[in-house]
Amino acid sequence: MQQSDHVDFRRSRAVVPGLEVLPEAGSTNDVLSARAAGLPDLSVIVTTNQTGGRGRLGRVWVSPPGRTLAISVLLKPEGLAPDAFGWFPLLAGLAMSRAIAPFVPGTVSVKWPNDVLIDGAKVSGTLSELLPDLSGLVIGVGVNLYQEPDELPTATSTSLVVAGAEAPDADAVLASYLAHLITLYREYLTAGGDPVRSALRDEVVEACHTIGRAVRVELPGGDDLLGTAVGIDVDGRLIVESDTGRTAVAAGDVTHLRY
Ligand code: BTN
Repeated sequence: MQQSDHVDFRRSRAVVPGLEVLPEAGSTNDVLSARAAGLPDLSVIVTTNQTGGRGRLGRVWVSPPGRTLAISVLLKPEGLAPDAFGWFPLLAGLAMSRAIAPFVPGTVSVKWPNDVLIDGAKVSGTLSELLPDLSGLVIGVGVNLYQEPDELPTATSTSLVVAGAEAPDADAVLASYLAHLITLYREYLTAGGDPVRSALRDEVVEACHTIGRAVRVELPGGDDLLGTAVGIDVDGRLIVESDTGRTAVAAGDVTHLRY
């Protein structure tokens, strides 16, 4: 059984200004948020043993010890207004999709707003959280590496190993994720946080499994929206076409429907 207990993360350390490997953490997002004031842009905390992982919409993110990577990256995007931060979960998902694609034979895609899928099954999720003083944010990503089918949290989850990766190296996955994240981040900053000029919107749309599909969106108020996902607007919202017209969805839980 493969595990990632004693990885030195040498390749990953070379990619960012600071990377701390914790033998265990409750939530890497919480640890990094608490330390953010004293750390530079692109500081990273990683563990293979996260005991209190948090997911979107108040859910838990369950990770058996040694089988997953829990990664948190601090972004302090100088000169960028907080209203441009909405693209960061999509940017992180795109970076992770690019990082894992070479490891698996299947089709890797992103699911709006924060998941990475292999052949439609979830391998990674993102939780982005603003720092309380709005000076930046923490992008947390969990990626399933070595779980066997009976260790996965849901029937629609997968891991790199289940998806056919042969002995995926945790350091190689992390180093590749960080390199893709930094490239996309710099392009986005160079374009002043404009997702069109930086081509980020086109790249996310191209990688996004959700676009063009029939979807059910559970909206934060509890209502369901049924329609077809037709695009992503400049604010990163999902555009859903339904009987009542087009709706821009800022937050919600999306199910891809098969008819
Ligand atoms: C989701 O799919 O709902 C998002 C899951 C996000 C999990 C990651 S693991 C690293 C970071 N620390 C956390 O507590 N959560 C995120």
